[in-house]
Amino acid sequence: MPGRIPQNFIDDLIARTDIVEIINARVPLKRKGKEFTACCPFHNEKTPSFTVSEPKQFFYCFGCHAKGNAIGFLMDYEHLSYVDAIESLAADQHLDVPHENDAQGNNRFSGKKQQDKQPFYDILKQASELFQQQLKNSERAIHYLKQRGLSGDIAKQFKIGYAPDGWDFLIRHLGKTTDNLNSLSKTGLIVNADNNKTYDRFRDRIIFPITDQRGRVIGFGGRILDKGEPKYLNSPENAVFHKGYELYGLYETKQALRKIDHIIVVEGYMDVVALAQHGINYAVASLGTATTTEQIQKTFRTTHEIIFCYDGDNAGKKAAWRALENTLTVIRDGMVAKFLFLPEKEDPDTMVRKEGKQAFEKRIKNAMPLSEFLFEHLKAQADISTNEGKAQLANQANKLIQKMFNSLFKDLLIEELSSLVGLSQQTLEAKIISAPDKKSVKPKQVKAIRGQQILINKTRIAIALLIQNPVLASQYKVPEGFNQAYKKGLPLLHTLQQTIESNLEISCAALLERFRDSEHEKTLQTLSMLQTPETENTDNIFDVYKNIIERLGIEDRYEFLTDKIENNQQLSENEMEEYMDLSTR
Ligand code: UTP
Ligand code: MN
Repeated sequence: MPGRIPQNFIDDLIARTDIVEIINARVPLKRKGKEFTACCPFHNEKTPSFTVSEPKQFFYCFGCHAKGNAIGFLMDYEHLSYVDAIESLAADQHLDVPHENDAQGNNRFSGKKQQDKQPFYDILKQASELFQQQLKNSERAIHYLKQRGLSGDIAKQFKIGYAPDGWDFLIRHLGKTTDNLNSLSKTGLIVNADNNKTYDRFRDRIIFPITDQRGRVIGFGGRILDKGEPKYLNSPENAVFHKGYELYGLYETKQALRKIDHIIVVEGYMDVVALAQHGINYAVASLGTATTTEQIQKTFRTTHEIIFCYDGDNAGKKAAWRALENTLTVIRDGMVAKFLFLPEKEDPDTMVRKEGKQAFEKRIKNAMPLSEFLFEHLKAQADISTNEGKAQLANQANKLIQKMFNSLFKDLLIEELSSLVGLSQQTLEAKIISAPDKKSVKPKQVKAIRGQQILINKTRIAIALLIQNPVLASQYKVPEGFNQAYKKGLPLLHTLQQTIESNLEISCAALLERFRDSEHEKTLQTLSMLQTPETENTDNIFDVYKNIIERLGIEDRYEFLTDKIENNQQLSENEMEEYMDLSTR
């Protein structure tokens, strides 16, 4: 993995970026009062409910409740990973994204990243070319590939090579300078042994180069020709190779096809190549790991339909389930995911060789829809002839559905779940919506922002004010004591105060970014769009805010002391006095 992207770089990037410009370039916006609007790109609608706020640098859809800042928009709209979205915004600003402690020990905030990686790409390319040459010289390697049914053309197309036996093939050919030796070592092509000696990682192996989206070689997989361990050896993670993000064969698929109707995700290098050999040139492999969310997003950026293909055995089912869980978190209307289970002991390579293209494509066509796999799997784990079993299934399904974006597909899953367990959709939906907030106290007031229900209380208004106007933090400090406060939400106010103090210029959007993936992310996003009389009347916002914070402090102490009394705990004299005092305020 590359190192973390420094937080102040992200703050700065968001500050430089104009979300209106970013969105307008993709979804033309119309000005409407203080905001910009359009028909929502995330759901189907005829009248615009998608709004972009320039001062808040935030978008929000009153229809489907999609929301976020510029980073979130790119992630959702272009199916980018978090890091890719940042890369994209940074590229617009002509900035290189710095990473803390990345492989080069490069801790600078600008400058050299692209340049620093170039020697790695160069050495990997040269190594790949050498391996390809070596394949021509090795009868044994050629024979191996032939016997596995591969033609010279396919070997060429996938740049398959051969790493000769011995310890210093690459070192002799490429390690002539210290810079080169350094690149060989940093990319994992050579291994540094304890005794200060170095040797080639790949020896006497068939070599499968792994390329990135631009076709640059970033790593290799090497298969042993005979029996032996390990069967496959892979390049280690390094500055240019991040396993969980890359897919073997994606570049080749894109090269082969202009319009990609669907992509099949398989497990192995050989599966991709064998399928291509049989004219199924739209397969990618997830590099030996479980298919990650990032890999699924990346694939959905290339096609709208994914067919996950696994062995029919238990390990295959398990891998498929992981893929399903990850798919649910990224899937949107218009995207399709299916599952293809092969008979036991078969993999796509053996299968397609046995039965050919047509029969295999028929399997692809008949693959199991995600919803079917989801419910079949859950049903197998619960006895739904009983109420307990139904409840168990509903709970399991809810947990998964909760992670989904709002979409018609999500609605359909809820509908199916509803008929399966005999609970109304409203009941299920209420559970799905309220689940993360189990401990929430009695609602004081429920506000519906055009259909979206939000609990409003003083704490939430204070949080909304602060997040929408971070400058308040330097005008009136949230008391230290809120950190340990009794009332829910006050510690969060305290955290917000501290976060803003770490960068007084921070914008609303950048502030939200700090809470990405935290338990508070959703609440804060919603509150950043909250409109109440308090947030709307900006003339005396400071007084309103100060007032509420003070009030909250008082209430917190009062509730704390009341609880103590109600629980028959002894109050100290000071506490008693404080209690009497507070009751009169
Ligand atoms: P498999 O063991 O299913 O191999 O591993 P395979 O693809 O069928 O290979 P062949 O047909 O025997 O040549 C699937 C994938 O898991 C990773 C590789 O990416 C491989 O393609 N793997 C497997 C490793 O990284 N190391 C191993 O030792 C084995
Ligand atoms: Mn195989």
